[in-house]
Amino acid sequence: MLMETTTAMPPVRGTDVSVDEDRYARCIAISKRVRWDIDKDVIRGRSFNPSDKFLPDGLSLVQDMDFLTGDEKRFISQVQGRTYANIFGLVERFITAKLLEVGREYSLGNQNALEALVRFSDEELKHQALFRRINDMMSEIMPAGYRFDIDPDMVARAVLSKSTWAVLVLTLHIELFVQNHYRQSIDPEADLSGLFKDVFLYHWKDECQHVVLDELEVARRDATLTPEQRDIAVEDFIGLVGAVDGILQMQAAADANYAMSIMMMHGRSFTDDEKQAMEQSMLKAYRWQYILSGAQHPHFVKVLTGLTTDAQRGRIQAAVASLM
Ligand SMILES: [Fe+2]
Ligand SMILES: [Fe+2]
Repeated sequence: MLMETTTAMPPVRGTDVSVDEDRYARCIAISKRVRWDIDKDVIRGRSFNPSDKFLPDGLSLVQDMDFLTGDEKRFISQVQGRTYANIFGLVERFITAKLLEVGREYSLGNQNALEALVRFSDEELKHQALFRRINDMMSEIMPAGYRFDIDPDMVARAVLSKSTWAVLVLTLHIELFVQNHYRQSIDPEADLSGLFKDVFLYHWKDECQHVVLDELEVARRDATLTPEQRDIAVEDFIGLVGAVDGILQMQAAADANYAMSIMMMHGRSFTDDEKQAMEQSMLKAYRWQYILSGAQHPHFVKVLTGLTTDAQRGRIQAAVASLM
C-alpha cells in the first residue's frame, strides 16, 4: 500500500490551475441543474411488471443463449437487470467513501473543488438508495430465490486498502462505462421497461460530471507519485480488476442457478451442457458489462495512456485479456 499524505496537493500535471477551477465550477453548475428526486422524477408512482424487459441485449448478451425461449430470455434480462442495479449499489459504497476522503483535502482550500466533491458524494448516496429501492421493487414481481450476498462494506474495506490512484482509476473506469451503457444500449432499445430506462437515465445524468471529477483527481494524485509508487499503484489496479472478477464469478454462478431453478419450476429441463453454457454466458455478460466494456472505452484508454508507461499498460492489458 502506498504512503499518502493529506496535505495540499500540487496542481494537475501539465494543466493550468485556472482551467481546473473552471471545470470544478462547471461540474457544480451542472450538478445543480440536473438535480433529481428518486420519487418525484424517477419512480413517479410506477412499478415493474413481470412482462418487462430490464437489461438490453447489448449488455445481457442474451442473444448468445440460443437454447432459451423468448420468455426465458426476458427473464434473464430481469435477473441481470436486478444484478446491474445491485452491482452499482455495491461499488458506490467505496466510491462515496473515497471521494469523501479526497474531498476533505480541499476543506480549507479550493471551495469549488470541495463543493463539487461533496455533491458527488451526496449523489452517490442517493444512487445507493435508488438501487436498494429498485432491488426491493423488482423483488415484488420476480419469483423468490434471487440472491445478492456481497457485503458492500466488506468490499469497500478491501478496495480502500489499495492506493488512491488505483481506486480513482477504477472509479473512472466504472463511471465511463456507465455512460456508454446508457447511450449505446439502454437508451436506444425501444422495448425496455420505461422505469428501468429512467433509473439509468437519471443515474447517467450525474455520472457525466463524476467522470470529469474522477479525471481531475486522478491527475492530481498522479502528479504526487514517484515512478516506483505509480508502478505499485498499477499493480493495485490490476489486483482490483481481479477482485471485481471474483465478485462477478460468484454472482454469475448465483444468477445462473436462480434463473435455471425458476425455469425448471416451469417444466424446463437443462442438459449438463446447457447448464454449463448458462453459467458461462452469464459470466461472459458480466465481464463485458463491468470490466471489458470499460477497459475498451476510448476515453479510458486515452487517460490510461497519459498516466502509464507502455510496460505498465501492457501489464494491465494482459490482465484484462485473460478475462476474454
Ligand atoms: Fe452512481
Ligand atoms: Fe458516480
